[in-house]
Amino acid sequence: MSSVAVYSPKGGVGKSTCAVNLAYLSATTSTRRTLLWDIDAQGAAGYLLGAHRQREEAHKIFSKDADPVELARTTPYLQLSMLAADTSLRRLDVQLVEEDARKRVRKLIRTLERKFERIILDCPPGVTEISEQIFRAVDLVVIPVTPSALGMRVFEEAVAHIRDKHRNGPPVLPLLSMVDMRRKLHREMVSTHPDWRVIPYASVVERMSAERAPLAAFAPRHPATRAFAEVWTEVEQRLIAIESERQIADRAAR
Ligand SMILES: Nc1ncnc2c1ncn2[C@@H]1O[C@H](COP(=O)(O)OP(=O)(O)OP(=O)(O)O)[C@@H](O)[C@H]1O
Ligand SMILES: [Mg+2]
Repeated sequence: MSSVAVYSPKGGVGKSTCAVNLAYLSATTSTRRTLLWDIDAQGAAGYLLGAHRQREEAHKIFSKDADPVELARTTPYLQLSMLAADTSLRRLDVQLVEEDARKRVRKLIRTLERKFERIILDCPPGVTEISEQIFRAVDLVVIPVTPSALGMRVFEEAVAHIRDKHRNGPPVLPLLSMVDMRRKLHREMVSTHPDWRVIPYASVVERMSAERAPLAAFAPRHPATRAFAEVWTEVEQRLIAIESERQIADRAAR
């Protein structure tokens, strides 16, 4: 039972795209009972997955007595459920601070983990109360990095923040997002990070918002689809390793 945040402080780097594809691969390739949880008021993940528009409902999950499992909805895909976002999440940061609910995200994730084997969170950009709560709750943070000096700087700051402010915080898995190998700078970024997975810049990825479906559902053989599959394989391997370490630690503590 593990959770992954797809996060970056930077907007528009491919977080929602990545979260939707990873959640789909978790449910299909790995046949895990999977929840895609969209925490960004823009609601992009739900849109990309073809969810019906909902009004002012998403905040309910954060209210004290809500049962998050009951609020999760099925999707057209077997084993994949979703908690969609809407504009009611705009004040979420303020709401959690006002209620002094500093552990709410963590508690919700622990409850959801009783039903779902894999929880993938599509996070809003920025460094906020929500992102702090997410870092205290998840097992792994996937950070899409755009291949530029600014993209790298933002990534390094995020890693430093998690390391400095969250003792025993989650490990980070970076990936290079929107890579165009015709561009020299992009090729240089790929060669300086040989162990990072690479998602190519491809118009088929943009088509997700027209198809409103994960890439593998409409372009199963495209190189971009295969790139997300490789990312998922690495994520799944990391989660299995984290779970077995946790089991060993639990047994030792008993
Ligand atoms: N590999 C890619 N190739 C081409 N276009 C991409 C790729 N990844 C994402 N995009 C496009 O870039 C835009 C931003 O992607 P996405 O919404 O996933 O980013 P985000 O980080 O979630 O943004 P936000 O910070 O606003 O939530 C979208 O139009 C998406 O289709
Ligand atoms: Mg997004």
